[in-house]
Amino acid sequence: MKTEELKELFEKMTLSEKLGQLTQTTAEHFIKNEGDEADDDIEKELVETGPAFDELEEQKEALFTVGSVLGVSGAKVINRIQKNFLEQNRLKIPLLFMHDAIHGYRTVFPIPLAMAGSFDEETVKLAAKCTAKELRAVGIHVNFSPMNDLVRDARWGRVMESFGEDAVVSGRLGKAMIQGYQGSTDGTIGRNGVASCLKHFAAYGAAEGGRDYAAVDLSWKEFFGAYAKPYEIALEGKPRFVMSSFNSLNGEPATASRFLLTDVLRGRYGFDGIVISDWGAVAELKNHGVASDDRDAAKLALNAGVEIEMTSSSYLRFGKELAEKNRGLEKKINEAVWKVLCLKNALGLFENPYANEAEEEKVLLSQELLDAAKRAACESCVLLKNEKLLPIKKDCRTMILTGPYAKTKELLGNWSCRGSFDDTVSLEEGMKAVFPNARVEAYENFSECPKELLETADFVLVTLGEAWELSGEGHSSANLELPVKQQELIEAVRASGRDFAAVVFSGRPLALGSVDEKIPALMWCWYPGTCTGMAVAELLAGECSPSGKLAMSLPRVSGQAPLYYNEYRSGRPANESSYSSRYQDCGIGALYPFGHGLSYAKIIYSDAAVSSGTIRGGETVTFSVKVTNSSEYSVKETVLLYMNDPVSALVRPVKELLDFKRVSLKPHQSAEVIFEVSSEALKYLNNELKRVIEPGIVNLFLNSEEKPAAQIQYE
Ligand code: GLC
Repeated sequence: MKTEELKELFEKMTLSEKLGQLTQTTAEHFIKNEGDEADDDIEKELVETGPAFDELEEQKEALFTVGSVLGVSGAKVINRIQKNFLEQNRLKIPLLFMHDAIHGYRTVFPIPLAMAGSFDEETVKLAAKCTAKELRAVGIHVNFSPMNDLVRDARWGRVMESFGEDAVVSGRLGKAMIQGYQGSTDGTIGRNGVASCLKHFAAYGAAEGGRDYAAVDLSWKEFFGAYAKPYEIALEGKPRFVMSSFNSLNGEPATASRFLLTDVLRGRYGFDGIVISDWGAVAELKNHGVASDDRDAAKLALNAGVEIEMTSSSYLRFGKELAEKNRGLEKKINEAVWKVLCLKNALGLFENPYANEAEEEKVLLSQELLDAAKRAACESCVLLKNEKLLPIKKDCRTMILTGPYAKTKELLGNWSCRGSFDDTVSLEEGMKAVFPNARVEAYENFSECPKELLETADFVLVTLGEAWELSGEGHSSANLELPVKQQELIEAVRASGRDFAAVVFSGRPLALGSVDEKIPALMWCWYPGTCTGMAVAELLAGECSPSGKLAMSLPRVSGQAPLYYNEYRSGRPANESSYSSRYQDCGIGALYPFGHGLSYAKIIYSDAAVSSGTIRGGETVTFSVKVTNSSEYSVKETVLLYMNDPVSALVRPVKELLDFKRVSLKPHQSAEVIFEVSSEALKYLNNELKRVIEPGIVNLFLNSEEKPAAQIQYE
């Protein structure tokens, strides 16, 4: 509708109706009584992602003023809910429907931590675009994604939802995901787009001890210099929503923090969209001990800048009296409601609030989407080691798959929305398809493998990892080691004397320090999604070369967490001496560090050069390097450019990722990869929160090389 008409509608709203627009609830409230078979469909579509709040049940009239619903999907179901709702909503303001499709809806892509390993903004953008297509087809308007929390602690189960331990990688991939969901770069929503909700603001990934929902306490230098950086970069993608996080930061719950949600998010980062709380986070201000009751909680959250209250209903119950006492709050409420109405209008909901039920079947799991999901899965797996055993020879006649993931279709990872295991290609199915002439047999229990088969097997593929349910929200683990049963499996396969490799499925980094040297070839697959079987099989068969790199360091033992590559320098850097920064009972550093990843191809780097050996404030130099694919494979190569600043006023990290680029190379093709290095990018945040750098040498490094590829004198 025209803006004038929208304004007229706005003027008709009562304060209570406005507070309704700022309330989000779950769908069970809108299911009619038993017996209406169409509504029975709704029950199975409900996805509960937090503890239930039931105050709303006692406020029937308020119920039909709410502005949005979360956790339900399916065109038919959503249309029933919308219809039930509009019949009772006085001003016929349609519901917004929101959901968590953080790595796909029905076509499930690799978990975000896996996709991060592609280091490919285009791959991530395509995954988001495909997800948005399915979401719109099933009636969803807003996606609670990307999760852009920086994570350095693998004990925190939500690491699977993140893009890992580097702020630049996380921010750029988050920005790409936002643009993919919305189908634009300016915050508008494309025809097949959905509004994106950047979460969780802020620093939720720094929960103490890697325990979900625990407090976060950081220096502001560390917050702004590392943990806030992914959101700052991702906000360039113009998400329509930001979600406040459960955690407190330096004593203030994010959901009650005016500093975070207004001064930083809007003032410093320029966000002009809608802030929504996380599930019940407003009510939980009482648990944090900063609110004595729900009225207090509502006042704190409204003042902080939370505009939609997710699942609890203190705005509905106390917002009116709070606003009548405080005109400032009423102004905030009006501004928030206007933004919600404008979004509904931009989505065309006033003209057509319904999903196209005929569209749903055409879009879900279409070949285009499955192809994109397989591409992402191929680019996300990381070849960690390979003692000349991979790829598996094409003439392999007999192959055994064994371990907990040999046959299962449960390969989607957590937060897989409406993904179905029935649609998922298992590893067994994939290997049989890719090795059609081989005898491929899968035994979850290696001991059940027939002796004659084992004696004739050319190859054994061992599957290891952690069940998908053990990572994700509310799944923090103190122990990152493989289960004993899997360690015994490795021993048994080794004892068989057959050639073998291992693949790992996991939502988090696991600690393989005790078994790594027993495994001759190892590929880390994370959770690759619907197309797992084909993607992993094609990689193992060498139909494509692995190209993924680790976006998160893999530890030797659990006790190393938190573990990340860009740690600050120490006066006694880790070395063989006990008088150095190391554990006495485990090796030094990560088992496999951030950025590690092998290829089947031989990639040669040469002719690294900088356009100038000196740089001053406000200047930019280019760093170029020739990358040659001297193999018969077509490859995608990620080039990582790091820096370190050997002498600085404050202690800086041992090295820091400056930039990354992805280059596609045909067999025997070379390309020149050019990076623009600005003086700004070389700086660091000091304790006064100023970006500074002192004159002196800056080293530039390529990938995991120890020796600088170039040096620049900062003048
Ligand atoms: C959950 C999660 C959040 C999600 C929301 C809605 O508790 O913290 O990431 O988007 O609730 O499901």
